[in-house]
Amino acid sequence: MLQLVRRIAHAVILLGLAAAAHVHAHETLKLDAPKPLLAAAPPMGWNSWNKYGCNIDEALVRRQADAMVASGMKDAGYRYIVIDDCWQKGRDADGNIVADPERFPSGIKALADYVHSKGLKFGLYSDAGALTCGGRPGSAGHEFQDARQYARWGVDYLKYDWCYTGPRNAEAAYTIMAKALRESGRDIVLSICEWGDNHPERWAQPVGHLWRTTGDIYDAWEGKKGYSLGMTNILDLQAELWRYSGPNAWNDPDMLEVGNGGMTTTEYESHFSLWAMLAAPLIAGNDLSTMDEDTRRILTNADVIAVDQDPLGQQARRIWKQGDLEIWARPLQGGDHAVVLFNRGKAPSEMRVSWDQLHLPAGLKADVKDLWSKKVYRNVRDGYGGTVAAHGVIMVRITPVP
Ligand code: GLA
Repeated sequence: MLQLVRRIAHAVILLGLAAAAHVHAHETLKLDAPKPLLAAAPPMGWNSWNKYGCNIDEALVRRQADAMVASGMKDAGYRYIVIDDCWQKGRDADGNIVADPERFPSGIKALADYVHSKGLKFGLYSDAGALTCGGRPGSAGHEFQDARQYARWGVDYLKYDWCYTGPRNAEAAYTIMAKALRESGRDIVLSICEWGDNHPERWAQPVGHLWRTTGDIYDAWEGKKGYSLGMTNILDLQAELWRYSGPNAWNDPDMLEVGNGGMTTTEYESHFSLWAMLAAPLIAGNDLSTMDEDTRRILTNADVIAVDQDPLGQQARRIWKQGDLEIWARPLQGGDHAVVLFNRGKAPSEMRVSWDQLHLPAGLKADVKDLWSKKVYRNVRDGYGGTVAAHGVIMVRITPVP
């Protein structure tokens, strides 16, 4: 009898321990507050990394904020000025993150205030590991402390990287930072940057507002350099991800290289058109203060941006491919369609999309606007096409005529 009582007691204790462990395991993962709605449309802005890497300082950031306003980028919808890696120097005796005093002598708060004074929003970068990719202090073990600091500084956007994370579980690590940001008292966009390594499209929707789907972009039409990929290599990795993306939860094929010099103007038009089709965050990565007219014209093309920012938030699908020729299409709110005829080949090519391929009735009449030439063709039947330049696109918006 005593034996039985002991066994029952033992079982109860074990059950209790298991339940406690269970609660504990879930405690780290539970997000009490729902994800704030901060990215109904894909975020638009500028980030220091693609052009400047670690060579950044407060004067540069102010110059980019000034240029975002003066160049018309702000009017076109760009909002976030994001400082990427290497703004950090160390931690003080209490563990607070400290900015590099030589490069940011006025401090991060003053810089955030300056950016806000221009009607813009301010972003910072950190990492879920012990160190950032650039070897600066990461946020591991300091998530809540850092989130509170960001809130005090006036941070609106956090890009959170994945270097030096060892065996950490990505979903758990990003969930901790999401929880910390939500408890910080300030609305802060969470940009997840684990390069698609742990299939973020399967778990990131309740956690972050956007998540990188690949390794880093570099400024080339195609290619692979270690962990970095050319523009078309990144594009190919997006084709199957369309079902995971939507308002407040976007696939992120990495930042724009438009204007950085590694591609032709035609190729940059393709890059920008395709990123808009993907409902990608439009984060410019060039020097906004010296950009030439073609770069400005591309980055501020209102019709292309409207496709990117379309409220339906439906990422494009590659609906047809034959060799170097591809058709990408996405439905837009109100019954319009955006279509890109994309010629990856080295010679110009005739291309055409039929209404049938868009599941529109064959007899339908539609107005077709070419979003680069700005020409409008009225009451078009059956389909639309033209000569697509080598490495170029024709991008159109198709509006059915009632
Ligand atoms: C990683 C990220 C990049 C950039 C660098 C900074 O490579 O993917 O976008 O933030 O780190 O070190």
